[in-house]
Amino acid sequence: MLQIRGLKVAYGHIQALHGIDLDAKAGEITAIIGSNGAGKTSTLMAISGLAPITGGEIKFEGQTISAIPAHAITRLGITHILEGRQLFADQSVEDNLILGGYSRIGKDKAAVMAAVEREMDRFPILRQRRKQQAGTLSGGEQQMLAMSRGLMSEPKFLLMDEPSMGLAPLIVQEIARTIRMLKDSGRAILLVEQMAAVALGLADRAYVLESGKVTITGTGAELARDPEVKRAYLGG
Ligand SMILES: Nc1ncnc2c1ncn2[C@@H]1O[C@H](COP(=O)(O)OP(=O)(O)O)[C@@H](O)[C@H]1O
Ligand SMILES: [Mg+2]
Repeated sequence: MLQIRGLKVAYGHIQALHGIDLDAKAGEITAIIGSNGAGKTSTLMAISGLAPITGGEIKFEGQTISAIPAHAITRLGITHILEGRQLFADQSVEDNLILGGYSRIGKDKAAVMAAVEREMDRFPILRQRRKQQAGTLSGGEQQMLAMSRGLMSEPKFLLMDEPSMGLAPLIVQEIARTIRMLKDSGRAILLVEQMAAVALGLADRAYVLESGKVTITGTGAELARDPEVKRAYLGG
């Protein structure tokens, strides 16, 4: 579904990605693990058209997307759920979904409201919190809302940047179940995580990114038993 070859990203003279190759298949969860500053977010930003690409190519369903604008990439069915959730904190849960809908679906009010109801069926907690300000939700609820907003346009391919960030272990398990549910509903997911154990448990295929280069790749299970991955990312 997604094919990345020789991808380079640079911010001025700071080279964040030094030519990476990565494949993500339809119906699968692909994970990227790596420490802070490894280039995980830059990879997702490059796919969604938000990072300065200086070399290489990204193809989505056979079409080159590394040279088209972000809004055109969204229209192909790719949604990026940003690191840090980026909700409108002083707007209600419902308004966050509506605003997400307008930017992703367009101005058709009936279609947007139908998508809001569909999302509230998917995440019943959001219906219970419908009129509550997003900033007053718990961390886990905020992550659910960020995912739900990203799903308003029913994307085929979801980019998720550190959904577990700042969440307690039990809540991380709940988010992991949600990600699996999204996969089971047929979506392809590219998941970026510092919490390697969670990501490898979910991933069909995984990549280790170090200083802007892919250093190890394999199935999630293979990486979870890899001595180097264990030592560096799974706490021995
Ligand atoms: N907007 C930016 N301007 C300059 N440097 C950046 C910018 N975004 C990221 N970087 C740098 O690029 C490298 C990779 O960052 P990032 O992709 O955010 O890594 P990760 O998500 O793995 O923590 C880091 O050295 C970071 O400081
Ligand atoms: Mg990041």
